Amino acid sequence: MDSPALDIRHLDVVYQVRQGLVYAAHDISFPVPRGKVTAVVGESSSGKSTIIEAMTRTLPPNARVRSGRVMYGERDLLSLSESELRSLKWVSLAYVPQAAQQSLNPTLTVWQHYEETARAHGARWDRDGLRREALRTLAMVKLPGERVLASYPHQLSGGMKQRVLIALALLFQPEILVLDEPTAALDVLTQAAMVELLKEIQAQRNYTVLLVTHDIAIAGELADYVAVIYGGELVEWGPADAVFQDPQHPYTQGLLRSLMAVNADISGIQAIPGDSPSLLAPPRFCRFSPRCPLAFDRCHRERPFLHELGEARRVRCHLFEREEASHAHPV
Ligand SMILES: Nc1ncnc2c1ncn2[C@@H]1O[C@H](COP(=O)(O)OP(=O)(O)OP(=O)(O)O)[C@@H](O)[C@H]1O
Ligand SMILES: [Mg+2]
Repeated sequence: MDSPALDIRHLDVVYQVRQGLVYAAHDISFPVPRGKVTAVVGESSSGKSTIIEAMTRTLPPNARVRSGRVMYGERDLLSLSESELRSLKWVSLAYVPQAAQQSLNPTLTVWQHYEETARAHGARWDRDGLRREALRTLAMVKLPGERVLASYPHQLSGGMKQRVLIALALLFQPEILVLDEPTAALDVLTQAAMVELLKEIQAQRNYTVLLVTHDIAIAGELADYVAVIYGGELVEWGPADAVFQDPQHPYTQGLLRSLMAVNADISGIQAIPGDSPSLLAPPRFCRFSPRCPLAFDRCHRERPFLHELGEARRVRCHLFEREEASHAHPV
């Protein structure tokens, strides 16, 4: 594989709460291939946004990155200075947070949001230039530019607001687009339109897209690569086709089975018996083992390594150790 656009290595994030530490992202490692769509999937509270907020340096004050790096070329995003980070964000890497629609300022028109964004990131356009760029980006997300620029957020539908956010993110022609749940607040038809739109935008400029979704069906439609998160850990990573057609981790297998069972309208995990682990005191062994139909004694004792299956496939599961061991010592 060519050098990835981003490489997340051993990322570990905790939140300090009254009862102790929430181990929200534990030893997360996966690359984000250049010019491709990577989907981060997992059920609610599995740690998806924590990973994204850590790499975009937008974690809340009670969070602590205990270790890890997020490599962007030779630079580690986690150790850039504030000014280096400011010049990189938006211009190279644009990020639309989860539920960002609520962060649109109700007292400002969309045009004023463009002005604010341009000012905040030291843009060099004059008024006409910025207007041209605003219309260009709104056209990319298929919105009627003039009308939308004059609108206040409350005059736009949820789908239109999400498009405005993506258009704003495209203003500086970033190399990497990070979108946390861009379809979650939308009705099904608007979701389908958003999926088509994201496909088109990605193809136009070959963006590297890192997309978070709890909806594995959306990942299936959009992603070239998938990172499956369970209980704050990466359990499987690989090309989407391979992961969806031949999932290796028992959790991914269960997730996909439940998706088939409910025919694309998922709350996937419900089909897997048991509850997701508390991240306040997660087990020190395999976090999925209490629910895993294939677990054996070792799974309840030891944490599995992240096994590399070939160049572009990773699975955190003891089953692979057992296989390796049995290959090494055939009976
Ligand atoms: N500010 C915080 N303080 C304490 N715990 C937090 C905080 N933010 C998140 N958490 C906890 O960290 C864990 C991971 O949360 P995160 O928001 O990353 O999950 P997620 O996969 O993005 O979920 P969702 O699909 O609901 O957006 C959860 O247990 C959550 O309760
Ligand atoms: Mg989230």
